[in-house]
Order: sequence, then C-alpha cells, then structure tokens
Amino acid sequence: FSLKPYNTFGVDAKAKYFTEVQTIEELKNAISYSKEHSLSVLFLGGGSNILLTKDFDGLVIKLSLKGIEEKDLNENEVLVTAKAGENWHEFVMYSLQKNYGGLENLSLIPGNVGTSPMQNIGAYGTEIKDIFVSCMVLDLENLEIGTFSLEECHFGYRDSIFKQKGKGRYVILEVSFKLTKKDHLIKTEYGAIKAELENSGITHPTIQDVSKAVISIRQSKLPDPKETGNAGSFFKNPTIPLVQFEELKKKFENIPGYPNGDWVKVPAGWLIEQCGWKGKQLGNVASHRLQALVIVNATGNATGKEIFDFSTEIIHSVKEKFGIELEREVNIL
Ligand code: EPU
Repeated sequence: FSLKPYNTFGVDAKAKYFTEVQTIEELKNAISYSKEHSLSVLFLGGGSNILLTKDFDGLVIKLSLKGIEEKDLNENEVLVTAKAGENWHEFVMYSLQKNYGGLENLSLIPGNVGTSPMQNIGAYGTEIKDIFVSCMVLDLENLEIGTFSLEECHFGYRDSIFKQKGKGRYVILEVSFKLTKKDHLIKTEYGAIKAELENSGITHPTIQDVSKAVISIRQSKLPDPKETGNAGSFFKNPTIPLVQFEELKKKFENIPGYPNGDWVKVPAGWLIEQCGWKGKQLGNVASHRLQALVIVNATGNATGKEIFDFSTEIIHSVKEKFGIELEREVNIL
C-alpha cells in the first residue's frame, strides 16, 4: 500500500497494511487487530511532519476522527474542541468565521488538529500552548481514555510530553482550545506581520486581517505541499549559549539571534543559507529557494533516504562552519 498521498513530502514508501479510522471504536478494533497479529503500528495524522525513510512492515492507522464542538465559558470565552482528524487550517478558518480569536497567527500550518500538541505547533508569535486547554488521548498500554491538561503536556519550543516521556504511548483523539469571542488579543509583534499589515494600509487589524497577513507571508516563502513535497521547517532553530553567540559574532558580524537570558536562538535558515545551501538541488532533493530551512522533494521522485541524506549533509556543513549542531524537527521513520 503506497503512503505517497499520506505524507506531505510525497515519498512513495509502502506499508504492509493500512486502515483509516473514523471513530474511537474503529481505532480500538484496529489496535486489537495489530496486537492479535503481532503487527507494529504507525499512526498517521496529516502526515505533515514525518519523513518515511523506508517501507513499513506493519499496520498504518490513519486517524480520521471528525467533528467540532463548542461550549460557552463566559461572556468572552468559548471552549472549542476539535477531533484529531480535522484539518488544522480548516479548523482555524472555522474559528475565524465565527469570529473566535486565538488561532489566527497559526493560519495555513499543514497537518491535522490531532498532531498539533505533539510539537506544540507555532508560528508568528503564537504557539498552541497559548490557547490550549486539554487533549483527550487513548493510552496504548491499557486502551483507556485519559486527558492531559496544559501543565501535563510539558510544552516547550516544538516539544511536548508526547515527544519525550510519553513518546509512542498515546494517541491524541481530540484537542480543546480556549478562544476569545470579543476581546481578542491581536498579536502583530512578529516583524513580517507588522510589515504586511502596513503594506496593506491596515492600522487597526482584526483577527481576520492577522490571518490574511500570515497566509500571505507563508504563501510568499513556504512551498505548498500540494505542489512541492515538503514538511515545513526541517530543523529546529538552535539555542546556543550567549558566550558562544558572542564568539560567533566576532567572525560573522551579521549573524541574527534572539536572546533569552543566557541563551540565544539562532535562525537555522540563516546558518543553512550561509553554507550555500539555499536553493541548492542534489538529485531529487533541494533546499527551498525562498526559505533554506525547508527541504523539498524537488522532482516529486525523492525517496525518504535521499531526503534524510541531504539533511545529514546540511547538518555537517553547519557544524563545520559554525560549530552548531542542528536538530531535525521532522519525525524520522
Ligand atoms: N533566514 C535566512 N535565510 C533563510 C531563511 C531564514 O537568513 O533562508 C533568517 C532571516 O534572518 C529571517 C529569520 O531567519 O529573519 C527567520 O526566518 P522566518 O521568519 O522564515 O522564520 P524561521 O525561524 O525560519 C520559524 C518556524 C516556522 C514558522 C516561522 C514563523 C521553526 C523551526 N520554524 O521559522 O515554522 O512558520 O518561524 O514564525 O521554528 C515549521 O515549523 O514547519 C515552520 C514553518
């Protein structure tokens, strides 16, 4: 069974077995089946943050639980719960249509609601931890349903308990967010948003304006996975000690950095670009010409192994030039 349509890199890896589940019952049945037949299992959401480097000799379970519910909390807040299989961007658009605020800066992020807590998706000054309330999960150890609160998720930059201690143990079934109904917190600090709004002559932006600005920025530099296979940022932006940053600054005057106490976050895209990778293609794989942090399946025929090897070469160059070890953000299978 080809997984090509189920991963945004468009890699043609094969799964021995594949099933798509729409309800918790179907999900439990599929898991029981895998146990009875001693099959390893891979859960797939939107497939937007995974690199399949080989065929999968087990059962792929695609999570397609659908539905959105809401509950008024007070005059200004509403609790909106979306099932794991809802497409993230469609969910954001749904909330904006209802004029619910909180998700607008996260417009146009590929993937599904169910995988959003895994890596605490974030963009343009917002992370889901800012509006997250809880998520419902299935515990694969006992097939019981549980809930994780905001604190229990241990969210960090592109990180959560589901990538750490809880890795592989839980399937996220639905996620609840607290959104605003009228007193929206408009976040335009991120430089590119400010510039985009100014260009459009907007001085008092609504949440819909912010969303439009984000969409336009993303479209201007991130490749559309429907046209060119990719998984967004391939690496995390590294955080290095301030002393190391100051040393680097002596040699590379223009190195950008976002200080935070004794640490500085450095944009990986800049480091990669400085190593000459931006827009460079080797075989079927390339670094995106407008955003070096994004690796693309340039011809549509790349294998996962080729993409992985390409990323290893980038890691080596950056390490050699700057002494910084980039960490992959995309899950490698
Ligand atoms: N830069 C370059 N060359 C490049 C790309 C970036 O020099 O080719 C430098 C520039 O200095 C630029 C800075 O990097 O000002 C920041 O670039 P950008 O605003 O594009 O953001 P990013 O740090 O590269 C992060 C997230 C994105 C998110 C944007 C906006 C990570 C790993 N990536 O990228 O998330 O959309 O910020 O908030 O943190 C994703 O995770 O898939 C993703 C796209």
